[in-house]
Order: sequence, then C-alpha cells, then structure tokens
Amino acid sequence: MKLRRALLALALVVAGLIGLAPAANAARHQVSYDKYSIMIDGKRVLLQGAEFHYFRLPSPDLWRDILEKEKAAGFNTVSLYFHWGYHSPAPGVYDFTGVRDVDRLLRLAEEVGLYVVARPGPYINAETTGGGFPAWLKLVAGRARSSAPGYTAAYRDWLAHLNPIIARHQVTRGGSVLLYNVENEYAVNTDAAYMQDLQDTARSHGIDVPITTNNCCDAASWSSTWGSGPGAVQIPGVDDYPQSFDCANAGTVWGPWGAGVTERVRADAPVFAAEYQAGAIDLNNAGYEACRALTGVPYMKYFQKNNLIVSGTTALNYYMGFGGTNWGWLAQPNDVYTSYDYGAAITEGRQLTAKYDEFKRQGYFLRALTPLTKTDPAAAPAAPGLETAARVNPDTGTRFVLLRNTSTSAVDSVVEGLPVRLAGRDAKILVAGYDLGGQRLRLSTSEIMTHLPIGGRDVAVLYGSGSTLLEYASEPRASVLQGAVRTSFSGGVLRLDYDDAAPARVLISGGGRRPLLLLLGSAADVASYWQDGPVLVRGTSLVRSAAVAGGQVALRADTATAGPVEVFAGGAPRSVTVNGRPVAVRGTASGSFAGTLPGARAVALPVLDRRKQHAEAPEAQPGFDDSRWRVADKTTSLSSVEPLSRPVLFSDEYGFHTGGVWYRGRFTATGAETAVNLNAITGRRGNYLVWLNGRYLGSAAGGVQADSEPPANPSPGAGSFPLSGLTPGSTAVLSVFVQNMGNNDDWTADDNRMRQPRGLVGARLVGSVATLTWRIQGTARIDPVRGPLNNGGLFGERAGWSLPGFPDRAWPAAGSSVSPGVTWFRTGFRLSLPRGQDTSVALRFDGPPPAGYRALVYLNGWNLGQYGAEIGPQTDFVLPTGLLRPDGPNTLAVAVVATTPSNVKAPRLVVVGVQRGGVGA
Ligand code: GAL
Repeated sequence: MKLRRALLALALVVAGLIGLAPAANAARHQVSYDKYSIMIDGKRVLLQGAEFHYFRLPSPDLWRDILEKEKAAGFNTVSLYFHWGYHSPAPGVYDFTGVRDVDRLLRLAEEVGLYVVARPGPYINAETTGGGFPAWLKLVAGRARSSAPGYTAAYRDWLAHLNPIIARHQVTRGGSVLLYNVENEYAVNTDAAYMQDLQDTARSHGIDVPITTNNCCDAASWSSTWGSGPGAVQIPGVDDYPQSFDCANAGTVWGPWGAGVTERVRADAPVFAAEYQAGAIDLNNAGYEACRALTGVPYMKYFQKNNLIVSGTTALNYYMGFGGTNWGWLAQPNDVYTSYDYGAAITEGRQLTAKYDEFKRQGYFLRALTPLTKTDPAAAPAAPGLETAARVNPDTGTRFVLLRNTSTSAVDSVVEGLPVRLAGRDAKILVAGYDLGGQRLRLSTSEIMTHLPIGGRDVAVLYGSGSTLLEYASEPRASVLQGAVRTSFSGGVLRLDYDDAAPARVLISGGGRRPLLLLLGSAADVASYWQDGPVLVRGTSLVRSAAVAGGQVALRADTATAGPVEVFAGGAPRSVTVNGRPVAVRGTASGSFAGTLPGARAVALPVLDRRKQHAEAPEAQPGFDDSRWRVADKTTSLSSVEPLSRPVLFSDEYGFHTGGVWYRGRFTATGAETAVNLNAITGRRGNYLVWLNGRYLGSAAGGVQADSEPPANPSPGAGSFPLSGLTPGSTAVLSVFVQNMGNNDDWTADDNRMRQPRGLVGARLVGSVATLTWRIQGTARIDPVRGPLNNGGLFGERAGWSLPGFPDRAWPAAGSSVSPGVTWFRTGFRLSLPRGQDTSVALRFDGPPPAGYRALVYLNGWNLGQYGAEIGPQTDFVLPTGLLRPDGPNTLAVAVVATTPSNVKAPRLVVVGVQRGGVGA
C-alpha cells in the first residue's frame, strides 16, 4: 500500500514537471502576470483553452467526457460561461443542483486537470435566450448592463449566489479557476461604474485571481479608451472572428473580418485572445458541417498560427471547443436553432473531427515549446514567395518563424538555406535555436508536434516533409529504423532530409548527447499520437489519461475500431493495461511496446414501432374552462415596444417566459365583425395559430427581433383572420396559441432588444366596437429537475404528456396524419447498449424538414429538439446518455403543432458514434 502511494506520488511529480496542469487537491498557488504571460508560482503558463457551455450538455457525467477530450487535445484550460437565466426562474430563486451543479463542474475541471476562465456575465450573449439574462429581468426597471439601481440589485444577487462557488475553486485556494471574466463584449453605451462594481463585487466575494473582460471585435473599444481608470480590468481580452459566420459560402470565404490577429490592449498584461473563432453559428441555415468547413483545418492552420506569432498571444480561448445543444428553450431564436454544434472540433454528438486533430497538433506544440511563453517580435528571415514573421525568446534565444502562403497554390521556397514547400493558404511555425530536451535544434522546416524525455532519451514527433538540423560535438550515429531519411554530418551539424509520404523513424545516439528518437510523418500520421504527462501513445481513437506506476502503464483509452497501439513510457514498464484490462504487448526496435486493441462492438437499436397518438388543444374549444387562467389586464409595460392595443398581452408580464402561450379572448358579438387583426412577436422561427369558437382560422408568422429596431416595423407579426356570421349578442371566444421562441439578447446594451416582448402585441376586431377581454396561460409550473427552460404552455406539457410516467395505455396506435392544431405521439423503447463502450445516439427524421408543421421532441421528459422547415435544417437530434437510459426503458414524446393538415414523419434512432471505452470505462 505504502509503495503504491509512493509510486503514485512519484508519477504525479513526474507529470507535474512535464505538464502544467492543475492537480486535484493541489495546494494554494500564487497568480501573477507581466506583459508576456500569466505565471503560477512564478512559472510562466501558456493558457490554451476551449469554450464549453455546461448548460448545453444536460448530463453531468458527460461533462467529464468533454473535459477529458479537451485535455487530450493539449488544452490546459476550459472557458465557462455561467448562465444566470438557466439557474434563476424568478427573482431571488436559484438552483445549483443536478444539471445545474456548477460546483461539480468546477470540481471536475480540477480532477481532469484544466484551468478555468470563469465567465459569470451577468450578460453572456452566447446565442442563448436573453443572452443569459433571466426573462424576469424584462420586468425590472433600469437599463440592463448599466449601474441602474434595479438592475444592480438583480445582478448583485446573482453574483452573491454564484461567486462564492467560483471563489472556492480558484487556483489561489488550490482549485483551478485562473481568470475571472466580467461582462461580455461591453463595448457600447459603456458605464464605467458598472464595470467597476462587477469587479468590486467579485473581490468582496473572495475572487482574487486576475480579472479580465472580452472586448468585441477589436481593442478600440472601452478597455483601451478607459485605460487604467475606473472599470478597467487587469488582463483585457479581445474576441476575434476572422472567418465570419457565412457557412453557406464556406468554400470561398477567407478572412472577411480581418487577419485575426489579437491586439495588445495593455502594455503591462499579456495578449489574451478571449474568444478566438473555432466554429460558427449557422446564420443562413447551411447546416453545421458547412460551418465546420468554414472554420476547418486550413483556416485553423493559417489564422491561428498567424495569431500566435504575429501578436505573441500567450492566453487564448477557442470558441467553441464543443458547442452542444440548445435543449428546451435555451436558444436565442434569431441566430440559432436547437443544435449549437457550432461546427466545433468536437461534434454535438461528442465525436472527434479533423479539426480536433489540428487542435492536437497545435496544442501539443504550444504545451511542449515553453519558450513561447516569453517572446518579443524579431526580424524574420526571408522566404521568397512566402510571408514571414518571427518572435524570439529573449532568455533562450529560441526563434519561432511563421511562414505563410497567402496564395491559393503551392509555393516552393528557401528559408535560411533549407528548401521548404507550403501548400496554398498554408502556414507553418518553424523553430530555431532550441534546446529540445537534451538536444540542440538549429532549425527544422518540419513542425514540431511534441517532445518529451522517455527512459533516458528524448523522443520528438515532427511532421511535414523537410530538413532538420541538430548540433553535436562530434558525429553521432543515426540509425534509420523506418522509412527513408537521408543523413549527413558537417560542421557540427547533423542534417536529416525526408519527405512525409510515409512515416519514418530515426534513432540518433552519441555525438556527446543523450539519445534522440525522431518520429517523423505527415500531419495525418502524427495525429495518431497522444501524450499524457510522461507517456506517448500511438493509436486508439482517444487517450484520456496515461499513468506509469509499479512497472505498469495504465491507459484510459477509447477505440472505435480494432487496431494497433504502441506505448512509449519510461521506467522500464513490464505491462500495459487499457481501461483496467491487460493488453498483450511486445517490445519494438523503437524501444516501445506494441499490441492490438479491440474496437467497439456493433450496436442494434430498437425500431420505434409502438407509437401512439392523441390530439389536444382543448383550449381551442369554446366551452373550455379557463377560469383559473391569469386575467390579462395590464395597461403598461417597461418594454419599448408599444402595444398595438390594450390590455397589454405580452406574455412576460404575466409570468410566462418560455415556449408556447395560450390566449383566450372573449367578446360579445355585434354581428358586424369582419375580421380579427392580430400581431405577435415570437422571435425568428415562431408563429401563432388562431381559432374562433373552436373553428380553426389559420396561422401567421411571429414578429422578429428586427421589428423593434429602427426603423421599427409598425405591425410586427401581423395576421388578419376573416370573421363572419356571428350572432349578435352571442359570446365569441378567440383562442390563440403563440409559439414564442426564446428571448432576444442584449448585445447592443441599449435596453430595447432584451425587453422586446413575446406573445400577442395587438388584437383588434374589424367592423366591430366589441371589447375583447383576455386570459392567458403558459408554463404551468417549473419542472423541478429539468428547470425553467424545459417547458412551455402546451396542454400536453401542462398535463404531463411529455413525461415518462404518463399513462398513455388508452391512446390509440399512431397513424401519420394530423389536423391543424396540436397532436402528440408517444412511444416507449428499451435499450440495452453494450457495456464498456460509449454509444452516442440521436433521433433522426429522414429527408428534408417539413413545412406545415413543427415538432417538439421530449426524451424522458427532457425537451431535446424542435424540428421543422421553419425552424432550421436540423434532422438529427442528439439524445445524450444520462438523459437517455442506455440500459432500460425510455419514453419519447413528440408534440406536433401543425398549421395545415399534414402527414407526419416517424423518426428513428441512429448511432452517431461508438467507441469501446468511454468516460466510465
Ligand atoms: C461573440 C460573443 C459570444 C458569441 C459569439 C458568436 O461575440 O461574445 O457570446 O455570441 O460571438 O457565437
């Protein structure tokens, strides 16, 4: 026992020496910074982070999966927005339990070994409803994002609940929160007192790490204008989205929003790329694969490397690392639909992509090449036909030379006497004058992925055809173990020339240095390497962690298909285990251990053939009892949108902030009515349906965000519905179902957008002076587990039809046709997914999304999707494990809201990825 503990401690020490990740239960640390970089206990850190929205992955067990995947790509940081509205259904009410347990999230980051940039807003934007503001804030007086008293009291209360959780996870207290980010792109209508108060409030809650903020677009905004005056933060960051969001034209877009070079804002703080584009929202419904192409490997190579070398960024956060899902009513409706996949390196279904490989190549490089944490601009060598830039570390003299090919065709050039070839629009960072472990690298025209000491020698992974120059006191022995490498020695320099058509290995020994094993290959070849601390692995789909203890190398790894694995580890290990199981391995000429791993077993998913169907919308019937609904009789509102009739019918005014809302309006007919004219604002993608005395009159599209901006549309979301033949003196009942699509953000900080109402904004009878009186009904109650954004006000939602336990035995078997209005489908299915592997399952609707109806998808009561042509191009809806029971019964409920008689598609279950292993293995 004692020995095991000692070995474990030794392994941690070794890992600590090599990596810079925070360790669980670590001691308190000091954080400082200068113009070059952030330092922890005086040691410089290159912060490389990826953005993750826990609220877009409502399955805490999978948080670890994403964090481990980020860590495995070389990231040492995760950047986290905290979403006020997600935690607060009403003023003074907060929930930090279950899928909202952010203390657990921060603990996980610590366990996995990632620093955290904590971003509590209060405003976060993020294409989420209200930009993170709770919708009840619409009813609080005083401009949001200012020092107005009403808003101030509200955000202080939010921060009083959240900050203590963040504070106890700071690096300074042994946790992993390293930076605290106030506000978000606060660049217009600035209020220094507000920015200062956010910081003073944080300090009063125990936040003692450096405070940052993310400036929009360029640094010409407020942090520089306000210098070191009130409100200025310590380490200002800048957001850069050079590639725009035009996913539909991914093939031709190239840096329309600039070169993507993060600007220095303060002379005394490091350059911080607070959000660097790593994907895109799908503004023009091109689908997220197009967004992945827009921000694909060529973009990453060119723009990201540009940024690193031109501006000397030493703290950066890629937005997004994993996008996730706008489940429930999380989406801000104007820019996004259910999926927030974002074209990120890790897909919504948690699968790794080619972008992930590129992050890994760059991430390992940034982690291994520690001189990058302190560099000054330097004279760049010429390379005809290419652009060059360079930086140098003033202490070590190590130079980093950026080569950029701005043309679209390949260029052959020469740099410092060595031939170099760059594909069109490619970029490379070459390293010169570098102590690579015990070696001295004069220059390489290949790129370094990583290097590490293993068992008394250095092992280095380089990629791309080229030449490598290494300095020796005398001629070393260079044995080519694999592939074709030409070697020559002269003037104390060993020169190796090779191309990357096939992987190559060279073992160099003697010459006055310890041995070096060079692993060479193409970018694709080296993507098969994984490094965790002192262990290098080739093969598998993912190495989550590697540890050496007691003569054993223990890997936690995922494998999609059967294939080879090769392990390089020091300490003369005798055996290798993967996910706790021994693997047969043999020694190789490279000094590694090689074996074979099995892949994932095939998965059979059940057919959803037990569907049942039930129509609803009793609210449309004249006799429906609405006596317990709220009377809508307000005459004023804080919104800048003037109601087009009285009373005010804005749904938020009556406490209904989420999803669909029903209205019932009564009037005593005069017989002269010819029409009812309605206006509704729903946000983009919303609509409304209208009935009179149970007769369906039709539907109209809801008004959008732009309707409230100058020039304001005088009649947003207008619909005119003819009426005739009403009996004078009779009571008529109008029923209107408005599908609100989430709330506007507050990007412009001008108070107009975020207060834009939802629901009916005008209702007038034409040809009649009869008075309309109204009642309103939305979400019946907040789901205590799924939270305030899960449900709207459909009858079925109010009556529990979306929930797994609902007794649907008496419902008839489903057909496919539906009438205008609301129809529910339910089906149970049982899964028994193979254990010991990670199966990612989605619900798929085949073919293009339909017009004429939309569907809301509930898995075990969780609202996981909105489907239909008016919503977006999405046809696959990810069902995250945790909400999806992998071994047991599941219930799927689909609420169809049809505006015309329709034939409804039946969805099916599909596997979007499967690996042996997984986070639980
Ligand atoms: C940034 C903003 C993020 C997100 C991103 C686009 O400007 O800070 O919250 O909205 O744009 O996805």
